[in-house]
Amino acid sequence: MKWISVSSARQESSIDQAVEVRGWVRTRRDSKAGFSFIEVNDGSCFGNLQVVANGDLVNYADEVQKLTAGCSVVVSGKLVASPAAGQATELQADSVRVIGWCDPDSYPLQKKRHSFEKLREWAHLRGRTNTLGAVMRLRNQICDSIHRFFQEQGFIYLQTPIITASDCEGAGEMFRVTTLNLDKLTGSGRPVDHGQDFFGKPAFLTVSGQLEAETYASALSRVYTFGPTFRAENSNTSRHLAEFWMVEPEVAFFDLSDNMRLAEAFLKRVLSDCLNHCDEDLQFFNQHIRKGLIDQLTAVHDQPFSHMSYTEAVEVLQRSDQAFEYPVEWGTDLQAEHERYLTEQHVNGPLILTDYPASIKPFYMRLSDDERTVAAMDVLVPGVGEIIGGSQREDRLETLLGRMAAGGLSEADYWWYVDLRRFGSVPHAGFGLGLERAVQYLTGMANIRDVIPFPRFPGNAEF
Ligand code: 4AD
Ligand code: MG
Repeated sequence: MKWISVSSARQESSIDQAVEVRGWVRTRRDSKAGFSFIEVNDGSCFGNLQVVANGDLVNYADEVQKLTAGCSVVVSGKLVASPAAGQATELQADSVRVIGWCDPDSYPLQKKRHSFEKLREWAHLRGRTNTLGAVMRLRNQICDSIHRFFQEQGFIYLQTPIITASDCEGAGEMFRVTTLNLDKLTGSGRPVDHGQDFFGKPAFLTVSGQLEAETYASALSRVYTFGPTFRAENSNTSRHLAEFWMVEPEVAFFDLSDNMRLAEAFLKRVLSDCLNHCDEDLQFFNQHIRKGLIDQLTAVHDQPFSHMSYTEAVEVLQRSDQAFEYPVEWGTDLQAEHERYLTEQHVNGPLILTDYPASIKPFYMRLSDDERTVAAMDVLVPGVGEIIGGSQREDRLETLLGRMAAGGLSEADYWWYVDLRRFGSVPHAGFGLGLERAVQYLTGMANIRDVIPFPRFPGNAEF
């Protein structure tokens, strides 16, 4: 018997085939006419496969009629056209084998509806719900599109280190990596001897692979990293995680305009792949998570992104009649409320903000001729705010050293990074897309903790 996925079994083209399907029971309904409908799902698609189990199955009374949500089953039989609406096929079972029972009294997902907060407590089981299943399939599509887009454009996939000694973003939000015995250190009153630690100096989990990506962009021209990054920022928001995934392209002989074009083409590609390949899941998000999502995404794909400088954005915000919690002034960082106003109310679509004040951006961004701003770009989208952060990099040795000194960074710590400006320096640029923010944008999910399998945030490292 041919084992096929629920996704394949639901295709009209599968009608008349004898198949085997393996999955978990979602619901069971018994008909008075002496047979049962079992909805089976294996995660391969949003919809369930309807199994029709006749009363003459050998284990009908003993087992089939005792099936409850969560039981695992192997069903074989013939796929036929379904008379029911919303499904092309159904499986007429010859055999329903129960693989694992699932006690309905203790199974947390037995009840139909749970809040997303509650489901986080069962992160090991929540992948079986409609919403989390759809989120993970969409997340998978985005990852696939990321690799396809960059590979097709001739980028080399580069693995940058997870353990590092440098703080790329300079925000001091790094997790310490050590083999020193912390229990012995606390309360000793003595300063820590970093020479005794595993790497002989302080080491951290990376906040970004950018600096290392820049070194290889200076050799291979076009590279991208895609991996986990870590930030110990104590922000309990719906857009921040302590562990998240970031894709970071870095390109040599590239300036800010090239970088903006790349970011727009990239986001549009990811978007159209999702629209083309995840219709069933997107229909669900459109109906139950965010009304109008599909129209919104389709419109974005068909229009050029809006552009605005930070200075113009500050003027727009100051002119607006919104009561913001945080005041807006040139030189201060934009808050989520400001970003959302700009992208949602002011332009109603993706917005690329450029040329931020040098004082609020990291040392590596290229200083502009006005010496007050840097060649930075943030891409903001409705519903999320900042989804991409990037810039043209400072490629002039003296200017870079000046920026490092001003930021309190020692040349000795970043000697290898500085070397790139000594040996065949070229204009180059890149950006970072937060994968989870992209998933939020494309699903309409309100909380970033619900778009990653196992979220890490302050006070939570369960699972
Ligand atoms: O703007 P960020 O901090 O930029 C960088 O790290 C650059 N080194 C990237 C580069 O130029 N190669 O972060 C980039 C993106 C943000 O726009 C956001 O989408 C995401 O990473 N991000 C987070 N996502 C979830 N949780 C957090 N705590 C995040 N911090 C940043
Ligand atoms: Mg940023």
